[in-house]
Amino acid sequence: MSHPRIHFDPFGEPRPAGTTHPMLDELRERCPAFHSGAGHGFWVLTRHEDIVAAYQDAGSHSSRAISVIDPDPPYQWIPIMLDPPLHTTWRRLLRPLFTSARAAAMRDAVRRRCVELVEGMAAKGSCDFVADFARRFPTTVFLEFMGLPARRLTADADVHGCPMRAGDMVMLPLMMANRDPRVFPDPQTVDFDRAPNRHIAFGAGPHRCLGAHLARLQLRIALEEWHRRIPDYRIPDGARPTEHAGLVLGLDTLPLTWPT
Ligand code: HEM
Repeated sequence: MSHPRIHFDPFGEPRPAGTTHPMLDELRERCPAFHSGAGHGFWVLTRHEDIVAAYQDAGSHSSRAISVIDPDPPYQWIPIMLDPPLHTTWRRLLRPLFTSARAAAMRDAVRRRCVELVEGMAAKGSCDFVADFARRFPTTVFLEFMGLPARRLTADADVHGCPMRAGDMVMLPLMMANRDPRVFPDPQTVDFDRAPNRHIAFGAGPHRCLGAHLARLQLRIALEEWHRRIPDYRIPDGARPTEHAGLVLGLDTLPLTWPT
C-alpha cells in the first residue's frame, strides 16, 4: 500500500527561533502519518488523537528504545525505557517520591533559588535567558529533565494507510499534538486560561511524567519571581535567537534586555 514518504529530520542544525512550528503545522495538515527516511528510518504520527492513543497503548508500543535515532540502545534508563509489568512495579515504588504534597514542600526552597538567580541578573539589564536562567533553574532544583518521544512498535499496525511493522520505530511528537487545531482552537495563541486544555506536554499513558507537580511549581514560581523583578523586557534589535527540534523543541539562545 502506498503511504506518504517525507524526508523529515527533526534533529538537524539549530534554525531561527519560531521556524520549527510552522514546518510541523504544515506537515500535520498534509498527512496524519508518514514515513521518514532520515537516520535509520521511522514512522511519524502527527495528530493529537493518534499520538495520545499510541502513548496509551503500551501493549503495541515498547519504550525499550525511545529515540528514533537510536533504535538499539545498549543502555536502559529507568523507568522511562521499561515496559509493563516491570515498569508498573517501578512506578509503584517511585510514585510516593513525586506526589503534589512533596512538590509543595519544596516550594520555599525552589522560590529562594529562583529569586537568587533573577536578583543576580536584574541590575545587569540584559541576559541570555536560556544560558542564564532556563538551563540553570530547573537543573539546580532537579537532576533530570526528560521529554522523550518515540517508542518502538511491538505489533503490526496499519495507521492512516501506513503499514507499520513490529520492530519499526515510531515518532510521537508531543510538540505536534499540542498544536493540533482539531483539539486546540487557535493553537498559535498563548492562552494560560485555555479550557478545556487537553495538552500532553507531560506525556500520556503509563510513562506520563512523574515530575509534573514539581515542574508546574517551578514554572509558576519562575513566572512570578521574574515578572516581579523584571516586568519589562524585550529581545534586542538585531538579535537572532535560534531553536533546535530534537526529542523536545527548545531555544538555544534568547537574548533579552530591560531598563535598569
Ligand atoms: C516542564 C517540565 C517537564 C516536561 C515538559 C516533562 C515531560 C515529560 C514527558 C513528555 C514524559 C514522558 C516520556 C515518554 O512517554 O516517553 C516524562 C517522563 C518523566 N518525567 Fe518529566 N517533564 C518535565 C519535568 C520533569 C521533572 C522536573 C521531573 C522530576 C522531578 C521529571 C521526571 C520524569 C520521569 C521520572 C519520567 C519517566 C516516567 C516513566 O517512565 O514512567 N520530569 N516527562
